Amino acid sequence: MTESRTPRPKITSSYTVSLSYDRRLYKQDITASITHAKTLAKGSIISQPESKSIINGLIKIQHEIETDVFPWQPELEDIHMNIESRLYETIGDVAGKLHTARSRNDQIAVDLRLFTKEAIQESISLIRNFQSTLIEVAEHNIEVILPGYTHMQRAQPVLLAHHLLAYFHMLHRDAERFDGCLQRTDVLPLGSGALAGIPYNYDRQFAASELGFSAISQNSMDVVSDRDYIVEYLSNAAICMAHTSRLAEEIVLWSTQEFGFINLSDQYVTGSSMMPQKRNPDFAELARGKTGRVYGNLFALLTTIKGLPMTYNRDLQEDKEPLFDSIETLHSTLEIMTGMIATSTFNKDRMRYAAEDSTVLATDLADYLVNKGMPFREAHGIVAQISEYALNHNKYFKDMELSDYQSFSELFQKDVYQVTIERSIETRSILGGTAPKNVREALAKARSLLSS
Ligand code: ARG
Repeated sequence: MTESRTPRPKITSSYTVSLSYDRRLYKQDITASITHAKTLAKGSIISQPESKSIINGLIKIQHEIETDVFPWQPELEDIHMNIESRLYETIGDVAGKLHTARSRNDQIAVDLRLFTKEAIQESISLIRNFQSTLIEVAEHNIEVILPGYTHMQRAQPVLLAHHLLAYFHMLHRDAERFDGCLQRTDVLPLGSGALAGIPYNYDRQFAASELGFSAISQNSMDVVSDRDYIVEYLSNAAICMAHTSRLAEEIVLWSTQEFGFINLSDQYVTGSSMMPQKRNPDFAELARGKTGRVYGNLFALLTTIKGLPMTYNRDLQEDKEPLFDSIETLHSTLEIMTGMIATSTFNKDRMRYAAEDSTVLATDLADYLVNKGMPFREAHGIVAQISEYALNHNKYFKDMELSDYQSFSELFQKDVYQVTIERSIETRSILGGTAPKNVREALAKARSLLSS
């Protein structure tokens, strides 16, 4: 930190301060500094006793922070300066040796990578939990049939388990994306200095294995200004929130009186201050709503890094708040959604009733005619007429007389009554389809995907 020659207006110091949010990096900062002190000693850049004294000081400081007695000084700007200054107070002038062969540029880079690695692992584990809950709920409701929708219109009957497994697969891709991001985050920046590398005998491999990094950065200029892995995290979080917002929206709809497909447990509804009958799905609504902020965080950082000249620029300090916010929002949303799904019950009869709606079997009826030799387009036209007829007469297909059917086509025989919801589902036994046999296999596959 440079001293200003003339006193600064007060606002200038508060403008640069990041302590309020970067103090959460204290553990990573101390861990990285301990490794740095060890690596300095290993290369005889500082002596072993100096390294020991620095490490002991840092351990003490971590304890102070964790027991809430650390004297935070916002005027020292950030977490790095706070810890370094306290180290001077704790061990004296030898503290000044810690910053040998290091700049705050590679220091913040290493801290953030350590922090993001942990966050990614937590994100993946929360996604896995959510997936396994979806499997359990799907298995528990394996008999439940509901109409599948396109354009929010009842389309074809499907198993609820099939519907829920669709979310399993979305989440699976999310977890894979986080895994890819983890690999690119798992890179050691230390040894890069401010931007050009350092003129010391510094064993980067040693530092990497001490800190649990599996790779070492190959270009010092790149790594002190690289925030791609954070952009990736934010992007992955945005996509995952998009997925959860879709489920949240379905929960909101399904819990309406109009649908009545799902009953949320008391823990996941709120009352209204005015209307005593209300059971509002606020948690699902908030999951849907928070998605907007997570998208915003991605755009905030993308915009911050756009056009940044090499290498580190102070703009990069703005990477933290979006990152922290997206991590917190994603993690709490995943936990909430997992709990909500786990504790909900499904209204089997209401779902079934909605699927009984004659229009839902229209495609099957057309397929019936196709099997009797009619071209699909023609069958489509005839079934459209039958659907209209059924609708006008307030009937389901199964309630119509054979003679009614035959007035539309001679091809209709008694076996038309075998076109049922169960059959509709059973016949969709192609890989990826909703037939119960398939869905049972898909559930088993999903389980094994989770355990691999
Ligand atoms: N608080 C700074 C950040 O988050 C730390 C790095 C500061 N480096 C510097 N050269 N001023 O980016």
